[in-house]
Amino acid sequence: MITLDQAILNRRSIRQFSNEIPSKDLIESVIDAGRLAPFAAASSSNKYVRKFIVVSRSNPVLMELAEIVKKHAQKAFEELSKQIEVVPELGVKAKTFLGRLEMTMKKGPLGIGSAPYYIVVAEPKGIPDAQMQSIAHCMQNMWLKATDLGLGFQLVSITGQMGDNPDFCKLINLPDGAYKIDGCAIGYPASEHPPKPEYPSISEITTWYL
Ligand SMILES: Cc1cc2nc3c(=O)[nH]c(=O)nc-3n(C[C@H](O)[C@H](O)[C@H](O)COP(=O)(O)O)c2cc1C
Repeated sequence: MITLDQAILNRRSIRQFSNEIPSKDLIESVIDAGRLAPFAAASSSNKYVRKFIVVSRSNPVLMELAEIVKKHAQKAFEELSKQIEVVPELGVKAKTFLGRLEMTMKKGPLGIGSAPYYIVVAEPKGIPDAQMQSIAHCMQNMWLKATDLGLGFQLVSITGQMGDNPDFCKLINLPDGAYKIDGCAIGYPASEHPPKPEYPSISEITTWYL
């Protein structure tokens, strides 16, 4: 086990995975870390409502999910392109996102099929609408645990757009439109970790009121 500081320092987005399949025990350890992350209490009952759906690459459901996401990206790309025709300034702001949608519609979603496991985390929609923040806490715990275990982890954030897609929800047995979801890919990294991004110094990005 590595220290918390080492896990925080070593955590990286891994986008290429080897064919080696992590054991179910390891994936369960990662889920356990997510299970223990803070959650937004959607009702006064404070009941635990987070769900994890693990889809292995050896299950045909994974490629069906990837195909649905691909189709979704195509529709979203076409709709956004139409909006940009009407409001050209939107094109500048949405350029990177549009490019990602285009890549997904052409090549399929990165992370669904490229890793041995795709995991969806789901929380029922509530008031206030804090589920995506809640899921982000869960993902971060899972990410640090995966790092601790020597596993590679990639956020698959297009999953967040699929919670209202009836075909996607049906395949993973979630009621359509009732949950906020996000996803990640997990496996062993294919190569050495990618280089670290350049971080500014603490003093550059921090304002103190002492
Ligand atoms: C909200 C959020 C969504 C992200 N979505 C994706 C994604 O869909 N696919 C991906 O490969 N990386 C995704 N990332 C990872 C970032 O690109 C990455 O964390 C950043 O480039 C820094 O690199 P590092 O994670 O290796 O430190 C996402 C990160 C955040 C915080």
